[in-house]
Amino acid sequence: MAARSIVRFPDPQLRRRSVEIDGVDDDVRQLVAEMTETMVEAEGAGLAAIQVAVPVRLFIVDGHVAGGAEGSPPKVFINPEILEISAEAQTGDEGCLSFPDVFVPVKRGLRARVRALDLDGNSFEAEGEGLYARALQHETDHLNGRLLIDQVGPVKREIIKRKLRKDAEAEREEAADREPARQAGSPG
Ligand code: NI
Repeated sequence: MAARSIVRFPDPQLRRRSVEIDGVDDDVRQLVAEMTETMVEAEGAGLAAIQVAVPVRLFIVDGHVAGGAEGSPPKVFINPEILEISAEAQTGDEGCLSFPDVFVPVKRGLRARVRALDLDGNSFEAEGEGLYARALQHETDHLNGRLLIDQVGPVKREIIKRKLRKDAEAEREEAADREPARQAGSPG
């Protein structure tokens, strides 16, 4: 089991609509195990499969955020469907592992109710409030190719794009500095 690398904006994969999972088998369970490791390593509250480049309708939410004890395993949602979002809203800073170090205020329903399959293929319903409800709505958006950046106005959107471009450039330069020998020895 290994953590996977996280797909970052503006990678076009993030815009794909993820497809339903046909059956909950060992491949799905393996994917969930790797996503769990990836999310824990990145200290995220949730992660959708498309964020590790697998376009299937599956996301996980940190166990503590989902109402469990601290350090409990993440709650798994396969083929999730939002049943209800409360009219009562919450506005709070929201982040996304595909947008490193970006936090923007997003208005979401205060409560959300979801139906999904668990890792045994059984249907269940879950209702979240506050951060849990926010995560359910955010991760469901991922499955439909909708992203954090769609929640902000055009000016803020440009600022975020510029910041992420700069961060990616800085990372590339750092990586190049770390491997000067390999660069010099490259045949071109
Ligand atoms: Ni996200």
